[in-house]
Amino acid sequence: MNNRNPPAGSVFLIVHSADLEAACAPAGGLAACLSPAEARSARRFARTADRLDYLASHALFRLVAAHRLGHGFAEAPQLEVSRRCAGCGSTGHGKPAVAGASLSLSRSKGAVMVAAGPEGTQVGADIEGIPDALHSGFDHYVASAAEREALAPGDISARIRLWVAKEAVLKAAGLGLSVPPAGVHLAGNPADDNHPALRAESPAHPQVHGLTADFVPAPPGYTAAVSAAGTTSLTRLTLADLLAA
Ligand SMILES: CC(C)(COP(=O)(O)OP(=O)(O)OC[C@H]1O[C@@H](n2cnc3c(N)ncnc32)[C@H](O)[C@@H]1OP(=O)(O)O)[C@@H](O)C(=O)NCCC(=O)NCCS
Repeated sequence: MNNRNPPAGSVFLIVHSADLEAACAPAGGLAACLSPAEARSARRFARTADRLDYLASHALFRLVAAHRLGHGFAEAPQLEVSRRCAGCGSTGHGKPAVAGASLSLSRSKGAVMVAAGPEGTQVGADIEGIPDALHSGFDHYVASAAEREALAPGDISARIRLWVAKEAVLKAAGLGLSVPPAGVHLAGNPADDNHPALRAESPAHPQVHGLTADFVPAPPGYTAAVSAAGTTSLTRLTLADLLAA
């Protein structure tokens, strides 16, 4: 362990699962970052690609948590990860947490993402590969009435931007999709990367109302957003930052 003070703001990192696997190979692979239970849990995925994404997302979660807490690679598998569902209070599912930091993870089609902030802050991360098509009920499930009016027909990217921003906010609140995304309206311009953060309006859900979401740079073909309430800055980490210690 080192004595580095945790950064005051929030951080995030997005990486292709295969790149994280390659970077961890000299230190024993992705499994060397995980708890035995997480390594076992990956076996439930039938597709190799899904298994890799699961392993990479949880390895990245532990590496970012260790970095946040001033630990090195070697301590990552020993961190205690707990869960709590903000909807029903269960500790068997819901948002994962590590004492001393606030964290959120996401994975989609070969890419994984983790965001972290100071303990006690609300942090949510979401990444999505932009698909070729969306199911017919997408707009009604995801967009508020005003957002539906503003969406151009066939604009898949705009719809995925709404989706990731809302998922980031809902994950920051710890509620996930137990709150229908269409019940949250995002104030601001979701088409503009340089706008101030989008602000969630959802009076029926006080844990969500007022949370913000920022789009962050993602690999080509993906869209990603972070919701980090109560922090002043959002910094992009690199794999070198995580693997240095
Ligand atoms: C969590 C959820 C938002 C995942 O969305 P997704 O786009 O399919 O997947 P992502 O890769 O972006 O995120 C998955 C991760 O979100 C995290 N997560 C799970 N529940 C969460 C919650 N309530 N809040 C924040 N994060 C959550 C987990 O880390 C999960 O990965 P893991 O299960 O391997 O640990 C969605 O599946 C969901 O909300 N499920 C729970 C619905 C619910 O709460 N039902 C009521 C239960 S009482």
